[in-house]
Amino acid sequence: MNLLLKLEEKKDYALVEDLTREAFWNVHVPGCSEHLLIHNLRNKKEFLKNLDFLAIYKDNHNQIVGNIVYCETKIKDSNKEYTVLTFGPLSVIPKYQNYGIGTKLINHTVKLSRNMGYRAIIIYGDLEFYKRFGFKHSKEYKITDKDNKYPASLLVLELYPHALKGIKGIFDEGKNYEIDESDLIEFEKRFSKKEKEVRKTQERFNELIKMFL
Ligand SMILES: CC(C)(COP(=O)(O)OP(=O)(O)OC[C@H]1O[C@@H](n2cnc3c(N)ncnc32)[C@H](O)[C@@H]1OP(=O)(O)O)[C@@H](O)C(=O)NCCC(=O)NCCS
Repeated sequence: MNLLLKLEEKKDYALVEDLTREAFWNVHVPGCSEHLLIHNLRNKKEFLKNLDFLAIYKDNHNQIVGNIVYCETKIKDSNKEYTVLTFGPLSVIPKYQNYGIGTKLINHTVKLSRNMGYRAIIIYGDLEFYKRFGFKHSKEYKITDKDNKYPASLLVLELYPHALKGIKGIFDEGKNYEIDESDLIEFEKRFSKKEKEVRKTQERFNELIKMFL
């Protein structure tokens, strides 16, 4: 597949929100909120414009087929704070999933993050997918969520050997990833109507978010 990875520009925002909605619709819950999430994230001070990448399918009129975005976040340990990265939403248009686009977006931005000097990337995700990039359960690093628990979906990638040596604590995303339901209802009005459905993929997501190590 003839793909180009390039930084997102303002003119792409609406298309990328649409793409994000297409990718996440009915995957984790009936409907989705990730299109509002990305809309909100772009205005946060922790949002990293230089890691906001699009995957462009050159052979299909330069269609935008994927996107990944990053924010700075913190590991907090009593009086100390350590800056790390988190990514998401990561979206690929359903029609083009399983062609390696998500993998390309991750590999490219992980390499850039390392070159930028960041020590680690911490995400909530499915280890089944993310282990191929080197992500491990956060418990291996003694990094917990805000409730001091180890969710099975909290995953860590060190960006260089021993990057987290001597570092443990709470992974704190702050409020950037919270979604207001009334904002979502209002935001949805900008998009074409889509049916909310119960799907099998939602079972896996529901199991995953209830699992702790
Ligand atoms: C997850 C996603 C970004 C992957 O992008 P992609 O371009 O389809 O992925 P790639 O082609 O690079 O990789 C495909 C591989 O990932 C696996 N995979 C994809 N999603 C997975 C998941 N949720 N759990 C486990 N494996 C998964 C596929 O089975 C395939 O495995 P294989 O290489 O062993 O055959 C894309 O499927 C997507 O947008 N999904 C909906 C939104 C989402 O769940 N985003 C990620 C959570 S933030």
